[in-house]
Amino acid sequence: MQSFEAIESLRRQVREWRQAGQSIAFVPTMGNLHDGHMALITHARTLADRVIASIYINPLQFNNAADLDSYPQTLTEDCRRLRTVAADALYLPDAKQLYPYGMTDSVRVIVPGMSDILDGAFRPGHFTGVTTVVAKLFNIVQPDIAVFGDKDLQQLLLVRRMVADLMLPLQVVGVATVREADGLAMSSRNGYLSATERARAGLLYQVLSALREQWRRCDEGQCDYRALEQMAMAELERQGWRPEYVSIRRGQDLVEPEPGASAEQGGPLYVLAAAWLGTTRLIDNIPL
Ligand code: PAJ
Repeated sequence: MQSFEAIESLRRQVREWRQAGQSIAFVPTMGNLHDGHMALITHARTLADRVIASIYINPLQFNNAADLDSYPQTLTEDCRRLRTVAADALYLPDAKQLYPYGMTDSVRVIVPGMSDILDGAFRPGHFTGVTTVVAKLFNIVQPDIAVFGDKDLQQLLLVRRMVADLMLPLQVVGVATVREADGLAMSSRNGYLSATERARAGLLYQVLSALREQWRRCDEGQCDYRALEQMAMAELERQGWRPEYVSIRRGQDLVEPEPGASAEQGGPLYVLAAAWLGTTRLIDNIPL
């Protein structure tokens, strides 16, 4: 696996592959790679001839300086893992090249509306930081396919919307969330949990799964979504968590479904949640 830091050298390699008629899949990450990231790369392998991963901890998407400073950096181990899944190239952007005009003055790519709800309401500016860096990375790598995790459903849908609305010539593919044995969605932030917190962290997935069971038992057209959400929030609180939201949304646009609406309008329904366990903020979602 080759590593590239300069845009020019990465582009030279991409051009060579293209001239040989090969297609390119791209998996952007912030590193500290776990089995969830590996699943994206393994899936990318099945979709294109060449797979490029990137690792860049993007300051523009952190709305909290302490969170940025403590973000885990494990480059040597990440490279080892990338070789085991046969990634062809690793792009490690140089911050000065990625933001030539600096962070503050960087052009922003803003997806209005969808950026400001759910996680966006609790992390102001976060999703604009994501769409801005992802647009830059897409323009540098120019992949045919980009692979993202369902784990960050709002991010996946925002990137899809950006690609559609800016007519970017690539396809965005989502990959199912990879979980630990107790249901906890794999995440770089799980490493912040203490041993006792980790033992309790499966609760978020259990609460979402219990909500899904209750939703399935509702009579068609009779389901009180708000009541289900409130029960899930109350259960998390009862167990000492601090939930920010538990919300049932349409899978296409994250709009709240009409009370009792069938799952057909606006795509299948999902329940999304964010909650603090101690000083760690965890997010998750499952399809209903
Ligand atoms: P990061 O959190 O490193 O995640 C990189 C990709 O891995 C994202 O598409 C994310 O959804 C996916 N992922 C994370 N955990 C997963 C899991 N348990 N199962 C499946 N996929 C999982 O998301 C980012 O980085 C950044 O915002 C980025 C897109 C790189 C822009 O900076």
